[in-house]
Amino acid sequence: MTAAIETVDLTGEPPSRVQSAAFYAVKDLRRGDKVVLVTAQEPTLLMQSLDLQLRHNLAWTMVEADGKWRIEVSHRADAGPRDVLELLERDHKRLDRLFTQALQLLNRNEAAGAAPLLREFAAALKRHMAVEDDVLAPIFATATGAAGDDPLSIMLREHADIRQQLAVIAECLAGDAPETGEIGAFCAILAGTLAKHEHREENNLFPRWRAVWARRTDAERSQMMARVEAALRPGDE
Ligand SMILES: [Fe+2]
Ligand SMILES: [Fe+2]
Repeated sequence: MTAAIETVDLTGEPPSRVQSAAFYAVKDLRRGDKVVLVTAQEPTLLMQSLDLQLRHNLAWTMVEADGKWRIEVSHRADAGPRDVLELLERDHKRLDRLFTQALQLLNRNEAAGAAPLLREFAAALKRHMAVEDDVLAPIFATATGAAGDDPLSIMLREHADIRQQLAVIAECLAGDAPETGEIGAFCAILAGTLAKHEHREENNLFPRWRAVWARRTDAERSQMMARVEAALRPGDE
């Protein structure tokens, strides 16, 4: 596939329009695409805000020349993960996609088609939680408080709840004739739990872990990247 490269010159836009014009230029960016934005103002804040609006899907490099900034924007997935937290964030999206596919089949009353997807999803989610609990929590060792309302304690508690919900779904699937409505109801509850859980991790816990990551040496970081990548990969569960 040939990469599509488009240049959007925003230097003539009035300052109040630059943000929305830039948003429309990059909002449909797909893997392999590149958009070059040209701005009159230093674009760091603009790019951070666009990236936030687009769920951290952007990667960019910028250069200044002749009083203008040239920003080359690509899809984050083309850039490679910058740290172990981004590996987990990407895994959240992968888990969400897999679960959505299973839910769509359940909505169409296709329990037999949904079952293998749900099993794959449950195995991947357990691997993901094991990485967070057993690999990263001890390494990053952010403080837990006696009140239990710190991000790490909340994560550990929510994982226990998610494991229980997965066990209930597995029990329904193990029956002779899995009942689509019943499984669908439990899956809907889990979908809500998981969305809130991922949001809390990405916004409350991972920023704290990132601060610890920033103080690690390059050798420690690449060792951790390799360990997390391997632990997220399907094994022989
Ligand atoms: Fe988690
Ligand atoms: Fe997670």
